[in-house]
Amino acid sequence: MLHSDFQHRRSQLLSKISGSTAIFRAAPYAVMHNDVEYNFRQDSAFYYLTGFNESDAVAVFAPHHDEHNYILFVQPKDRAKETWSGRRVGVDAAKEYYGADIVYPIADLDEHLPKYLEKADKLYYHFGIDEAFNTRILKQYQSGIRQHDRKGTGPLSIEDPMTVMNGLRLHKSDYELSLIRKAVEIAAEAHNLAIEKRKPGLYEYELQAEIEMLFRRHGGMGPAYPSIVASGANSCILHYVENDRQMQDNELLLIDAGCSFDYYNSDITRTYPVGNKFTPEQRILYELVLKAQLAAIEKIKPGNPWNEFHDTSVRVITEGLMELGLIVGEIDEVIKDEKYKPFFMHGTGHWLGLDVHDVGGRKTGDLWHTFAPNQVITAEPGIYIGPDFEPLEGQPAIPDRWLGIGIRVEDDILVTTDGNEVLTAAVPKTIEALERV
Ligand code: GLY
Ligand code: MN
Ligand code: MN
Repeated sequence: MLHSDFQHRRSQLLSKISGSTAIFRAAPYAVMHNDVEYNFRQDSAFYYLTGFNESDAVAVFAPHHDEHNYILFVQPKDRAKETWSGRRVGVDAAKEYYGADIVYPIADLDEHLPKYLEKADKLYYHFGIDEAFNTRILKQYQSGIRQHDRKGTGPLSIEDPMTVMNGLRLHKSDYELSLIRKAVEIAAEAHNLAIEKRKPGLYEYELQAEIEMLFRRHGGMGPAYPSIVASGANSCILHYVENDRQMQDNELLLIDAGCSFDYYNSDITRTYPVGNKFTPEQRILYELVLKAQLAAIEKIKPGNPWNEFHDTSVRVITEGLMELGLIVGEIDEVIKDEKYKPFFMHGTGHWLGLDVHDVGGRKTGDLWHTFAPNQVITAEPGIYIGPDFEPLEGQPAIPDRWLGIGIRVEDDILVTTDGNEVLTAAVPKTIEALERV
C-alpha cells in the first residue's frame, strides 16, 4: 500500500488547480541500444502524485468533475506481454492500490479525455519530448476550444504544471525526508569506504564498483546519476564518467556519487589525496573550497535569499584566488565581470529530492526565493584549474604547479526552523580527517 503522503499530495494539487484539469504522463521507455531498454524509471512528477511505477500510463486530475477527480489510464493485464516485459498492475488492481476514482485501459485515453476537459477553464500539461503524444493532447485541447464556442465551457489556455508542482515538491514531508536520509546514509557509507580503500595504482572503476555495490546491497535503486570517480586532471572535468584511469600518488581524487533510494536521492562530493597527503598547492586550494563551502552553508537558513548563498562562495573563492595571484583586479569588479568563472563555473547548489537537480526554482522575476524549513539543497563550490587552463584577457598565466587540480566539496543540507542540518556530515571533509598519517 502506498504511503498516505501520495493521497495528501493529490489533495493539495486538486485544491490548487480547482477549476482546471491537469494531465501527467508516465515516463516513456528509454532505448539503450537497438531493442534493449534502460531500466524503467518513472517521471518524477508522475511518481510524486501517483506512486505508480509503469510506463504507458496517464494521470488526469479534474477537481470540477462530478464523479472522478483522479483518473488513471494504465496498461491492462496481458499474460503474454508480461512474460516478456514484466508484471503489470492492471486496471482493477490499480484502482484498488493506487487510489484512483476510476481506472481505464491506456488505449481508451482519447475516448475518455473529453469528459474530463469539458468543464475545465484551463489545462495543465507539460510538453515533453514525445511530439506525437503532445499532438494528441493538443488535439483534445483544440476540440475543447471548439466546444467552448458552442457550449461556453472548456479550457482556453494551457499552463505548465510546474507553476503548481514546484511549490509542492520543494517542501519535503517527514516521509520524504526519511527517504532522503536513507539515500544519504547509504552514499555516506560508500564514500567512507572509498576514502578508506583509495590508494595509488587502483583504477577509478574499482572504487566506482565498491561504491555502487554498496548502493545496491543496501536496497538502493542504484546511482542517483552516473558516478564520477576522477583522479588527477580528470577532477577538472565536471561530468567525467569514463572512470577508467589508474590513479597515481600525489594526485587528487574527486568522487561525486549519490544514491537513489525509493526514488529519493543523495548527492555527495569529496576530494582528497590518492595517497596520504595533499601537496602544498592542493592543500591551499582545498582549504579555500572548504572555506567557501562552510561560508555558503552558513547562509542556508529560513528567510535568507538564494543569491546570498551563491554570492558568498563566489566571494570567498575569488578573494582567495586573488591572494594567490591567480586572478588580478579589483575584487568587486572581478566579481561583477565574472572573472572567477574560468575557475568556478557552476552554481553553488541545487534543490535535491525526487530529481537530483530538483524542481523549485530560484527566482520569480527579479525576486530571489528565500529558504524555508524542510527544503533540501546541495552546497558544492569548487575550483578547477585544468591542464590546458586559459586565462581570460588581462589575467595572469597560471604557473604549472597549479595545473591539473580540480576540487569540489558537496554536502546535502536540510533547512530547519532555525538554520540548517548537514545531512551528509558522516563523510569527513577536514584536511586532518582526509590525510593519512
Ligand atoms: N552530481 C551532480 C551534481 O553535483 O550536481
Ligand atoms: Mn554531485
Ligand atoms: Mn550536486
